[in-house]
Amino acid sequence: MNPSSPRIFRLAARLSSRLVPALALVWAAALRADDAACQLTVHADQPGAVINRNIYGQFAEHLGHGVYGGIWVGEDSPIPNTRGMRNDVIDALRHLRVPVIRWPGGCFADEYHWKDGIGPRNLRPSMINTHWGGVVENNAFGTHEFLDFCDLVGAEPYITGNLGSGTVQEMQDWVEYMTSDASSPMADLRRKNGRNEPWKIKYFAIGNENWGCGGDMRPEYYADEFRRYNTFIKNFSGNQILRIACGPSSDDYAWTDTVMKIAGKRANGLSLHYYTVKDDNWKQKGSATQFGEAEWFAMLSQTLKMEELVTRHSAIMDRYDPTKKVGLMVDEWGAWYDVEPGTNPGFLYQQNSLRDALLAGINLNIFHEHADRVQMSNIAQMINVLQAMILTDGPRMVLTPTYHVFAMYNVHQGARLLPTDLAGPDYHFGAKAMPAISASASRDVEGRIHISLCNADPHSQVAVACRLAGASPSKVSATVLTAGSINAHNTFDRPGEVSPVPFTDFSAEGGTLTLRLPAKSVTVVEID
Ligand code: AHR
Repeated sequence: MNPSSPRIFRLAARLSSRLVPALALVWAAALRADDAACQLTVHADQPGAVINRNIYGQFAEHLGHGVYGGIWVGEDSPIPNTRGMRNDVIDALRHLRVPVIRWPGGCFADEYHWKDGIGPRNLRPSMINTHWGGVVENNAFGTHEFLDFCDLVGAEPYITGNLGSGTVQEMQDWVEYMTSDASSPMADLRRKNGRNEPWKIKYFAIGNENWGCGGDMRPEYYADEFRRYNTFIKNFSGNQILRIACGPSSDDYAWTDTVMKIAGKRANGLSLHYYTVKDDNWKQKGSATQFGEAEWFAMLSQTLKMEELVTRHSAIMDRYDPTKKVGLMVDEWGAWYDVEPGTNPGFLYQQNSLRDALLAGINLNIFHEHADRVQMSNIAQMINVLQAMILTDGPRMVLTPTYHVFAMYNVHQGARLLPTDLAGPDYHFGAKAMPAISASASRDVEGRIHISLCNADPHSQVAVACRLAGASPSKVSATVLTAGSINAHNTFDRPGEVSPVPFTDFSAEGGTLTLRLPAKSVTVVEID
């Protein structure tokens, strides 16, 4: 809640969310819809595509402490764990309702040889993780551990196969190992390693960033390779694999065009990677927490490029796949900053502030709006790497502002998109400007409407008059995430600096809901 809100609202925030809505209707009665700077129409009578749950997907790479320390601590660790995986992290991710987790990379995937990560741990060979710090990977966390972790979290696995430095046979064997119920060499090896039943694997990517770390290929070459590898990925024992092709980096539209042309008919998904980097300057990405308004504006205005990317890549896909069978899987996205001082540059460890909460909310709103094409997204990355949900330090764990946005927004999972019209003010910084408000709405299977709203303006609250076409609210409640400063963040010593609280600064009259969104905030409204 904005600390400048009247004290009565701060008091209200501490009341139970059941009581708050009724009181809010009285307290905020002074709000007038016609005076609101932002006019939002939610077309509740025109439900659109289903927002795929997988838009709330995560990504866990063998990178820094993303897996080791973040997930895997080993069965003998004093950190409470289940079969080697930390309980605090599992609980936090269950609460988030994580639908899908991408693994083992990233760039790591195209140098990962899965057979090194099965069998007795003390016999597993080591390798050098050449992309990420050159550290020795001991393969303690392999196929069984990852799939066990997914079961513990309640998420679907999304596995990336090694096309860059592996072989067709190796990829084929991996799929057989995981999914076949036959009496076959790979299924028998799995049984020998302690797992009788095959797993169900729905999502499988054929390579990662094969235009770069995954083999430096041209799109024509990759597309042919995709076809070759894809031929040998079999659907065993009733398992149906959705095959994801390596898609473009950012605005490489030629890559999308070529891969769709050559391989589009054989793919179920095409990935897209886009990281928000300040001024696109990869040499000086800036600090995750030590920044001023210029950097706040730069990151939040730049992240809007996702809208253009999704729109333009979708338009190309439409040409080859007009019935939208191939999903656009934005399987790497998020903010990328300089690493925290004193940490290994190869570990990509960065803090996470209120700015990242806004960035996450804006991107998720964009993905919702393209729910007819965007079938999955995987923020990079889940724990201790880039724009993480969770940071750990030995036995300690802290939830980031981005985590809280995912928790607030997960009401949209599997809901139907409701189209919106938005006319709102700009947020000006010097001579530059960006829209202050980003919004998205959906209706869930129980009929509740949810509206997620981001106010990027760090100085001004914005009144939003929200007209609900085809619905009239009888019960309204809301949650807000904000803080006293733009770079507020949660630390191990102060884990609650940026936490969601009930939001009460709204009034409802007829089919119109008027809200006063605090400066620099993310708000989710629930309407019954
Ligand atoms: O997420 C970090 C890295 O960024 C991934 O390994 C790679 O795919 C991308 O370049």
